[in-house]
Amino acid sequence: MKIIGTGAAHPKCAVTNEMLEKFLETNDEWITERTGIKERRVISSEKLGDMAVIAANKALEDANLTAADIDYIICSNVVNEYVTPALSCIIQGKIGATCPTVDINAACAGFIFALDMAEDKLKCKKAKNILIICAEEPSRMVSWKNRSTCVLFGDGAGAAVVTEGDELKSMRLTTSSLTEVLYYQRQLEPTPYIDKEENFEPLVMKGREVFKHAVTNSCRDIRKVLGEAGLKAEDVKYFVLHQANKRIIDSIRNFLGVDEERVPHNVERYGNISSAALPALLDELNREGKLEKGDKLVFSAFGAGFTTGACVIEWAK
Ligand code: UT7
Repeated sequence: MKIIGTGAAHPKCAVTNEMLEKFLETNDEWITERTGIKERRVISSEKLGDMAVIAANKALEDANLTAADIDYIICSNVVNEYVTPALSCIIQGKIGATCPTVDINAACAGFIFALDMAEDKLKCKKAKNILIICAEEPSRMVSWKNRSTCVLFGDGAGAAVVTEGDELKSMRLTTSSLTEVLYYQRQLEPTPYIDKEENFEPLVMKGREVFKHAVTNSCRDIRKVLGEAGLKAEDVKYFVLHQANKRIIDSIRNFLGVDEERVPHNVERYGNISSAALPALLDELNREGKLEKGDKLVFSAFGAGFTTGACVIEWAK
């Protein structure tokens, strides 16, 4: 596979750390020091599906394709206002595509899981052009009274168009069922027959444990995919890492011994936008003209589950 187009969309409402100080016992200094985040974009009047459509259309335009050229759509999403239909069905209609679609939930690692699925579809010739959209609104999973979680997240969408090619050099996915460190339970309708206790609460996160798993697993994954691709860290132009916390990004960078310039970040502007973080950051690099044909890129992400994914891709545009 190869990536031939990227796109992104962010909500208009920018929430700064100072704005959070008005209703939470927090401050800009704490948030900046512990996370690197200065502001995040949060959905207000927008619908997540509409943002996903903007990101998708930008990616199609960048790829010089139309929706009619797309044979399959994969949408990575943890939560949105619909349980059913899948978000990908909504996006398909709005962009005017007619191909089959599927939603996946691999939490923040969703973009890499989607790339892996796309590679398989392309390899067995079941599709030629695939649209991947990651659209997330974690702001609707957290309690806005909980300073430990709500300051960390933002909403947004990122997209990529992939087609046949030989530019995916290595891929590693992992799942280790570790569900108690990060979860969000959905409230279902009551029935006359439910006789079990059900507690619903906003997103629960053991931040320190997630931090440790994130750094350990990402470093391990990155070393493995580099090894499989026959590359050293110095051969890589950019390490495109999940944007959850600048301290996590810096720890991974230090363990790998990589200079700061080769580990781009935008977490300071958008917070953690879950699986949309990787394609949105890739889109920034692409549109800023920072990527050249032949550049080796490493993607790495981690998320609830615990899921992790990493891959090496050669830039083909
Ligand atoms: O996509 C995966 C999603 N999740 C993550 O990536 C999260 C990974 N973890 C982290 O990023 C960090 O663990 C956090 C940023 C969540 C927390 O940083 P920390 O350095 O691990 O702090 P902590 O949780 O140990 O909390 C230290 C103190 C606590 O106070 P006490 O108990 O020491 O008095 C917290 O109550 O900081 C307090 N605190 C805050 N203070 C001001 C927690 N949140 C805030 C806040 N403002 N927003």
